[in-house]
Amino acid sequence: MLINFLLSLLFTLSHAIPLHTPNRTAPTLTSTSVASFSKGTWLENLVIRQSDGNALVTILSAPEIYLISTSNEFAPIKVATFPNALGCLGIVELRHDIFYVVVGNWSASTGLSTPGSYSIWEIDMKERSPKTSKVADLPESGFLNGMTILNPALGVLLISDSYYEAVWSVNVYTGDVAVAVNDTTMATVPGASPALGINGVHLIGGDLYYSNTNKATFNKIPIDIHTGKATGPAEILLQSTTREIFPDDFAIDLYGNVWMASDLYGELDLLIGAASGAGTVTLDIVAGSRNDKSNTGWTSAQFGTRKEDVERGSLYVTTNGGPLNYIYQNWTAGGMLIRLDTVELGLY
Ligand SMILES: *[C@@H]1O[C@H](CO)[C@@H](O)[C@H](O)[C@H]1NC(C)=O
Ligand SMILES: *[C@@H]1O[C@H](CO)[C@@H](O)[C@H](O)[C@H]1NC(C)=O
Ligand SMILES: *[C@@H]1O[C@H](CO)[C@@H](O)[C@H](O)[C@H]1NC(C)=O
Ligand SMILES: *[C@@H]1O[C@H](CO)[C@@H](O)[C@H](O)[C@H]1NC(C)=O
Repeated sequence: MLINFLLSLLFTLSHAIPLHTPNRTAPTLTSTSVASFSKGTWLENLVIRQSDGNALVTILSAPEIYLISTSNEFAPIKVATFPNALGCLGIVELRHDIFYVVVGNWSASTGLSTPGSYSIWEIDMKERSPKTSKVADLPESGFLNGMTILNPALGVLLISDSYYEAVWSVNVYTGDVAVAVNDTTMATVPGASPALGINGVHLIGGDLYYSNTNKATFNKIPIDIHTGKATGPAEILLQSTTREIFPDDFAIDLYGNVWMASDLYGELDLLIGAASGAGTVTLDIVAGSRNDKSNTGWTSAQFGTRKEDVERGSLYVTTNGGPLNYIYQNWTAGGMLIRLDTVELGLY
């Protein structure tokens, strides 16, 4: 009896996830401004366009999408707006110049979502003037946030629900909607404000990686690439605290390192090896500063694809100008698209 108890205690202890305290002595990458918007413009998410390496950026403070040149060739162009919505969130490019985006009502001034207000829209950028059309409504969703492609051939997308501890699947060809995964690692922390559980989602092979803002975690779960259903248990790869990190969306590099935007703190968290299967994960703060009021509120990150971008390891980061400032309307900066050249760290 006692032996059994001791053995199970030992098992629990050896499997406990260590609490990660970030290394803040790591070198800080320089931020270069690519585009700046007016105060109160919240840049939320982005995708790098396959055809030309420019960025398609979603705005959360207005139901709008902008095309931003990553080589300073033109000023930002508004390419789409959506009716009956406060803003846009996750975005992907499923086929050349066919994009899908989350549209719905999350209010930056209250930090609250209107459950049931979300829909998925297509943006067809093949023509000179882009065309938009609705793919599906998700009346049972709580707060749709990040988006990733599950299966390009089947046209299935996965979308995180930051309120209802789940990932939804949407088939863009049939309009079918289903709950793909529901797991406690995706839940909010009761009483946390704002309520934000699972946030960014990205699929690599058969593993779905995701951040959880309230729990200050980075996680993965194996899934079936046809249905999106879990094929095994979720794993917490990194556990920190919301005093140290504020996980928003992220990018995964070719080596399985994770570059995660730490929204409230205006910092970039580097999780070396988090998506490499190596088992050990380190946490470094590699860019941004909590004291910088001119460049703050980092929401998501994606690697550039032009030749210069690949050489520099350019990571494009969207910012909102500080999430708290939307409540008090006391911004000191607008949202921006910034570039960080990750080769400066000497990792590659
Ligand atoms: C923190 O990062 C610095 C710079 O990369 C490195 O020299 C140092 O060894 C790290 N400290 C720990 C405790 O990992
Ligand atoms: C979203 O909010 C706007 C402004 O309050 C409102 O007009 C619209 O009907 C809402 N949309 C949905 C789908 O609830
Ligand atoms: C996921 O499960 C939880 C706990 O049972 C439930 O509260 C939540 O509504 C579920 N989410 C969805 C989208 O069905
Ligand atoms: C705006 O006001 C809030 C509440 O007083 C404060 O937390 C925040 O730091 C202020 N923003 C700036 C940019 O000073």
